[in-house]
Amino acid sequence: MTGSEHWDLESLAITAGRDASGSLAPTLWSSSAYEVEDTEQMRRLATGRRGARFYSRYANPTVTAFEAAVAELEGAETALAFASGMGALSSVVLALCSSGDHIVAPRHLYSGTQLLLQGVCPRFGIEVDFVDATQPGALAAAVRPGRTMVVLAETPANPQLALTDLDELGAIRGPFTLVDSTFAPPVVQRPIAHGVDLVLHSATKGIAGHNDATLGVVSGARDLLEEVWGYAVLHGATASPFDAMNGLRGIRTLPVRVARQSDTALRLAHRLVAHHGVARVMYPHLECHPQFDLAKRQMASGGTMVAVELTDGAEAGRRFVENCRLARMAATLGGPETLVVHPASSTHVALSPAEQAAAGITPGLVRVSVGLEHPDDVVADLVAALDS
Ligand SMILES: Cc1ncc(COP(=O)(O)O)c(C=O)c1O
Repeated sequence: MTGSEHWDLESLAITAGRDASGSLAPTLWSSSAYEVEDTEQMRRLATGRRGARFYSRYANPTVTAFEAAVAELEGAETALAFASGMGALSSVVLALCSSGDHIVAPRHLYSGTQLLLQGVCPRFGIEVDFVDATQPGALAAAVRPGRTMVVLAETPANPQLALTDLDELGAIRGPFTLVDSTFAPPVVQRPIAHGVDLVLHSATKGIAGHNDATLGVVSGARDLLEEVWGYAVLHGATASPFDAMNGLRGIRTLPVRVARQSDTALRLAHRLVAHHGVARVMYPHLECHPQFDLAKRQMASGGTMVAVELTDGAEAGRRFVENCRLARMAATLGGPETLVVHPASSTHVALSPAEQAAAGITPGLVRVSVGLEHPDDVVADLVAALDS
């Protein structure tokens, strides 16, 4: 689309990923396969490159439209969608790494990612070093020249919102750099502009944004993602066209949703800091966040997630999430409903106490995904749950 490179992300969210049919809403192509003319065409499609209408594990027009939209928002050459965020992550890691290779990863990570890296990768002979990626230079220092294939970051990290410096990550030469940016959709941060090779999202979360899609997506350079695709069609974590349609529908309202949710999140963070039951509030654009300057540099807003450390530990954490009335308890984020979780007893329960401590999952930690309810109601509900 001519001139689109000059438009703001709010406009790109509306224009991106449209097909030539004239349909305003994303078109659902449910077909799993496409008829071919003759055996020669079948041979070409079966051995060809990504994008052809052949078989939906290889490519699907609805999924392709979603990928095009995400790539445009990320400022990337292309994107590749998957059946989930974990489908994206496992496909990328196993596409790029072989036995004997090495990965550098942060200590603060989504638990599923941590379990993949510490449990599955070693079974395939892939060694992983976990470092404190909040420390300047820590990721680069752990690179083993000639052996490290991937340097991974997750920023902001789930659930305690630790940050990694994207400029530092993007400056690492040699290994592929990959950032899980699920907690910061493209309207909040765009890692490709910092020189990072690949940016990954659980699009299940803010990108689809309505709790009606299970979807992952990776954006980056075309050559690199062609390589990943060659493995991904065998791995089979293929995005469903229905979920891609919902993902594309979600993209249309992503900027306004995130702007409103971020405003409410900042307001909530300020209010919770002042509460006697709260030991610490973690929110990137809150002055007391230990990486506030970095957050201001690389994030356009503080995002939609707030983490709170309660003074009275695990029991207080559990009581708090159970006492919310407007906010619901559910193990996801980025949708219209304000959601609360107590990670130590739920999302991160598969980690041992020592692993939880290393990942910053303290007993009193509560994670809040701020929704689209009226800001006054969100703040009042969480304060009432704390008071009780
Ligand atoms: C930061 C992060 N990355 C990846 C994932 C995995 O995404 P999915 O549940 O879509 O597989 C999650 C899920 O919560 C997440 O929070």
